[in-house]
Amino acid sequence: MTALRDYVQWLRRYDDPDSPLSWRLRTVQQSLRDELDARPGPVDIVSVCAGDGRDIIDVLRTRPDADRVTVVLLEAHPEVADLARQRARHAGLDQIEVRTCDAADTGSYVGAVPADIVLLVGLLGNMSHDDVSTTIAATPQMCGPGASLIWSRGRDLDDINDRVRREFAEAGFTERAYVASDRRTRPAVGVMRYDGPAVPLDPDRRLFTFFR
Ligand SMILES: C[S@@+](CC[C@H](N)C(=O)[O-])C[C@H]1O[C@@H](n2cnc3c(N)ncnc32)[C@H](O)[C@@H]1O
Repeated sequence: MTALRDYVQWLRRYDDPDSPLSWRLRTVQQSLRDELDARPGPVDIVSVCAGDGRDIIDVLRTRPDADRVTVVLLEAHPEVADLARQRARHAGLDQIEVRTCDAADTGSYVGAVPADIVLLVGLLGNMSHDDVSTTIAATPQMCGPGASLIWSRGRDLDDINDRVRREFAEAGFTERAYVASDRRTRPAVGVMRYDGPAVPLDPDRRLFTFFR
C-alpha cells in the first residue's frame, strides 16, 4: 500500500493566501455561497474526502441562515476529522456531522445522500484515471434532483479535465461553471448540476484508492 501524504501537515498550505490551494479554496467557497443563495429552504451538503471542512464551515459561519443547512463530512484521517469537528464547534455549528470513515466505501454514504450539494474537492487528482471514472459514474447516487456538484482537479501532473467534464455530462450532469488557474499546481474547479434521474445508493461498492 502507498504511504499517503501527512494530511495534517498538508493543511498548512492554506496558510499562504497566494498558494494554488488558497485560490481553490476561495473559488470553491464562492461557488458554495452562490449555491446557497440560489436555494431557499433546507439544504443538505455532503463533502467527500472533506479534510478539515474549512470550505463549508468558514462559509456557514458567516451566514445568518446557516441553520437551514445540514452537512455531512466524510474524512478518513482521524486527526483531520477531529480538526473538522473542532472547527465546526468553534464556529458554533452543531448541524455538521463528521464521519471518520472511508469515503471510497459507498456504505459510508448511507443516510447522507442524496444531497443538494456534493463536494468532490481535492480527490480526483489523487487517484488513478480509472478510479476517477468509477467515482464520477457513482456520483448520481450522491445527488438529489437538481443537486449541484462542485469538483476540482489540478492539472500539474496531467490534464484530464476535458475527459472529467465529458464523463460528468455522460452521467447526467450539466456544466454550470469551470474555472482554471495557472498557479503552480494549475488547479481547476467545476460546478455541475445533476439533471438525471434519481439513482438509489448501492452501499456495497468501492470507488477509489488514494495514491498520495
Ligand atoms: C487533498 S485533501 C482535500 C481535503 C479537502 N477536500 C480540501 O479541499 O481541503 C484530501 C483528503 O482526503 C482524505 N482522504 C484520503 N483518502 C480518503 C478516503 N478513502 N476516505 C476519506 N477521506 C480520505 C485525506 O485524509 C485528506 O484529508
